[in-house]
Amino acid sequence: MKINILGIESSCDDTSASILQDGNILSNITATQEAHKEYGGVVPEVASRAHQQNIIPVVDLAIKKAGISKNEISAIAFTRGPGLMGSLLVGVSFAKAFALSLDIPMIEVNHMQAHVLAHFAEDPKPDFPFLCLTVSGGHTQIVKVNDYLDMEVLGTTIDDAAGEAFDKTGKLLGLDYPAGPVIDKLAKKGEAIFSFAEPNLPNLDFSFSGLKTSILYFLKKQIKTNPDFIQENLNDICASVQSAIIKSLMIKIIKATEETGIKEVAVAGGVSANSGLRNAIETEGGKRGWKTYIPKLEYCTDNAAMIAVTGYRKYLKKEFVGQEITPEARLKI
Ligand code: KG4
Ligand code: ZN
Repeated sequence: MKINILGIESSCDDTSASILQDGNILSNITATQEAHKEYGGVVPEVASRAHQQNIIPVVDLAIKKAGISKNEISAIAFTRGPGLMGSLLVGVSFAKAFALSLDIPMIEVNHMQAHVLAHFAEDPKPDFPFLCLTVSGGHTQIVKVNDYLDMEVLGTTIDDAAGEAFDKTGKLLGLDYPAGPVIDKLAKKGEAIFSFAEPNLPNLDFSFSGLKTSILYFLKKQIKTNPDFIQENLNDICASVQSAIIKSLMIKIIKATEETGIKEVAVAGGVSANSGLRNAIETEGGKRGWKTYIPKLEYCTDNAAMIAVTGYRKYLKKEFVGQEITPEARLKI
């Protein structure tokens, strides 16, 4: 009999459902929430309401697109955390009701572990052990992946995530949320001629709040003498900001490869869409003999296929949970 896993993701502002059959993705449907744009960031209350509205249509569509019936689903895998409590509750409650009504097992999934296992959604797949740099609006981590469900966090951010660094500086520059893709586009037309304070952490941890403050003071100072400084130099500012963020990420991933001797290097999360980061990984990888992996954007940003992939691995080990399960906003790998 075929193993069909329904994956559910609702940890932040994307509602997503996916069907995985014997490890192969049949569907991956994601409803993104536009309502946060005008606030310049994700508003938790707005996010949980939108998940409530989206979850049934998204699941229906995922099952329909997969060409299976509800009764053929073997288990439901859901994001237990980390994430926004109100958002997680929608997915967890849905999973409980669905599992009860069909009398199928439930599988809890750690969202950060799932970002890493997104690399197994399609070929080419990394070999174990590999290093994964997970960079998004909510997370920045370097993970050593020994096996599907055996991971160690080598470094993490002590303040803002890399995506947040893009989004918050974008806000200072008057750009729309999320600013990452906009900065990426404008940076292509500019040059990284400005420099900002660099973090100086000795281990594999990251820090981006100093960069944000440094950019803020830099802009304030420039605007004092030239009120049009931002408009006149926007492309170069974006190129400089992007270059600073990428530099911070690259220093740590290089250090991690040197310390572990691992040359399989994977990148996950929404920021992996950044063209400068992709170039840096490819170029540095070429010089250092790395094998590099960046999944399709659909599997980099928050999605349920990665939840289903992780759920499948747990299904094979019969790692199920009971109806008493609750979300964990701060769940760790
Ligand atoms: O993984 P994701 O969709 O959601 C989570 O935060 O979990 O990542 C969204 C983040 C945002 O901060 C956005 O600005 C950033 O990824 N991002 C980018 C680019 N595309 C998305 N940052 C830099 N360059 C991009 N091209
Ligand atoms: Zn995420």
